[in-house]
Amino acid sequence: MTDQGSASGVYTASADFIANAHLDAEGYARMYEASVTDPDAFWADQAQRLDWIKPFTKVKNTSFDYGNVSIKWFEDGTLNVSANCIDRHMLTRANQTAIIWEPDNPATPSLHITYAQLLENTSRMANVLKAQGVGKGDRVVLYLPMIPEAAYAMLACARIGAIHSVVFAGFSPDALANRINDSEAKVVITADFAPRGGKKTALKSNTDKALFDCSDKVKCLVVKHTGDQTTWIDGRDIDVKAEMAAAKPYCAYVEVGAEDPLFILYTSGSTGRPKGVVHTSGGYLAYAAMTHQYTFDYHDGDVFWCTADVGWVTGHSYIIYGPLANGATTIMFEGVPTFPDAGRFWEVCAKHKVSQFYTAPTAIRSLMGMGTEWVEKHDLSSLKLLGTVGEPINPEAWNWYNTHVGKGKCPIVDTFWQTETGGHLITPLPGAIPQKPGAATKPFFGIKPVVLDPANAEVQTETAAVGVLCIADSWPGMMRTLWGDHERFEEAYFAQYRGYYFTGDGCRRDEDGDYWITGRVDDVINVSGHRMGTAEVESALVAHEAVAEAAVVGYPHDIKGQGIYAYVTLMNGIDPTDALRKELEGWVRTEIGPIAKPDLIQWAPGLPKTRSGKIMRRILRKIAENDFAVLGDTSTLADPSVVDDLIENRMNRG
Ligand code: WT7
Repeated sequence: MTDQGSASGVYTASADFIANAHLDAEGYARMYEASVTDPDAFWADQAQRLDWIKPFTKVKNTSFDYGNVSIKWFEDGTLNVSANCIDRHMLTRANQTAIIWEPDNPATPSLHITYAQLLENTSRMANVLKAQGVGKGDRVVLYLPMIPEAAYAMLACARIGAIHSVVFAGFSPDALANRINDSEAKVVITADFAPRGGKKTALKSNTDKALFDCSDKVKCLVVKHTGDQTTWIDGRDIDVKAEMAAAKPYCAYVEVGAEDPLFILYTSGSTGRPKGVVHTSGGYLAYAAMTHQYTFDYHDGDVFWCTADVGWVTGHSYIIYGPLANGATTIMFEGVPTFPDAGRFWEVCAKHKVSQFYTAPTAIRSLMGMGTEWVEKHDLSSLKLLGTVGEPINPEAWNWYNTHVGKGKCPIVDTFWQTETGGHLITPLPGAIPQKPGAATKPFFGIKPVVLDPANAEVQTETAAVGVLCIADSWPGMMRTLWGDHERFEEAYFAQYRGYYFTGDGCRRDEDGDYWITGRVDDVINVSGHRMGTAEVESALVAHEAVAEAAVVGYPHDIKGQGIYAYVTLMNGIDPTDALRKELEGWVRTEIGPIAKPDLIQWAPGLPKTRSGKIMRRILRKIAENDFAVLGDTSTLADPSVVDDLIENRMNRG
């Protein structure tokens, strides 16, 4: 086998890999051309990868015109997503493993769940939901560990036409309550505890707290996972496992329209409350399945592992929907990369003979710091391809991943996409598109990226260009709206650059036409691949009685990519002590969740503001980045002395 070679930082897959890949360079070029010149024909054909109950006659019906944004694909077709992920595989794959569940503690046996078992368990779960009165269009919130019941519950909702909204188990009771209320969910499904890294998060008790702030009609379905004692409210709390055992083992799937919502997933924006991103059934599933097949070069018999949590879109598209629609074997991992030791990822790869491994740069960076011996201990010869997602990957981490994990023979796909996009937007297709460390490279089929000058919104026509990244036309996997707020949807994504979908990211396109994502250009920060609105952290901070005002920005962080830097102005007469700093950190943890805890808090007697009172975040970012020599235009500052104090007392001097 020839190693994937590099000439001046460009890596191509080995001849061996290319020979077995779905696509080569010519195949990509031909298909891409077809996808953008005649999307109707291209997607009508691609949608045949799904089983339709009633075939569609219309393919694409979309408009990006601000004030009139409307996105519909395959609109008169009907199908069932759960049937596409399970039932249709029963003739050929009933006894094939659909999901390998790997528990937090390696001493606990892993589970191999076949497609037949997946059908039975999903059916039982669907019958439990039906017994609670859940039907088509109803919302169900999932607040679960990474356990098989999470997969059953997602697929059970899809089976009966209910809309799931998964809330990451690291979120606080407040965040959970907001999502239950915003989606007006009938039911929340949780577990007693979520084991992670040898510790346990009390999900049931968090849910109890959340439900104080919700309608008392909300039912609480509890998976007794660890078996530890919890409170129990008769009439409201339901033992899922017991109900599943007593339920009928089969549940018929319902027919839904291609444009009926499949799920809502809340994500952070630059302003206000989290946004309920809505994905629908037909286009989303076709796109998730297609990207899973081509981006990862998935073949029958491969074992696919995406390390994300089902609380994020990555888990939706590449643990559950994409792989299962393709009849794949997908791994669901309950644990963390460093428990019981820093070799866990590689131990699991060896144990289950993983073919494709997909993780976040932050995980790679943290494991990189622990030495190569953890990787070398394990047999990684089953690996064929590696992937990253969530944030730009720095070349050091890319090289480490390539050399020590991929042993120089696995293409690395750096997949750029978003909760909103449903699946990959820009990524090397292995075997077809050469890789460059740090570049997401080329658009997926049907994606028309454009680089705009943020100063005048003009499209950059030169190949080499820098600016903001927009997408010029719709693709089947994109979100359709924000739950209950179509106006906000148009404002957030289509108002700034008319006629385009605005990603919120900056980018550079090089001479070869390869795209390099440079990070968010709005007030969203990316902490360990988790998206966080600075406004959310600010509103949590000002909710504390000692805080008068707060401004939050991101700053470069070696492991997390970006850290959270908070400038806090205290109420008159409050002492800025270390104890208070700790208290505020803990406060944000409980208000939002551990991922939102500020890394650095600076006491700010005043914040730099314009005369009209607008906080000048650009200056705050510079100081947080420890790069304040050139602050840019400060002439509009109401009180320039504020800045000197902030520089003098800055927290990041690295
Ligand atoms: C934001 C979306 C959907 C995957 C998980 C994150 C950043 C994502 C990359 C990448 C550079 C990336 C962007 C994007 N991002 N992938 N390969 N290279 N940046 O989903 O929480 O919706 O965040 O993550 O800034 O806008 P998300």
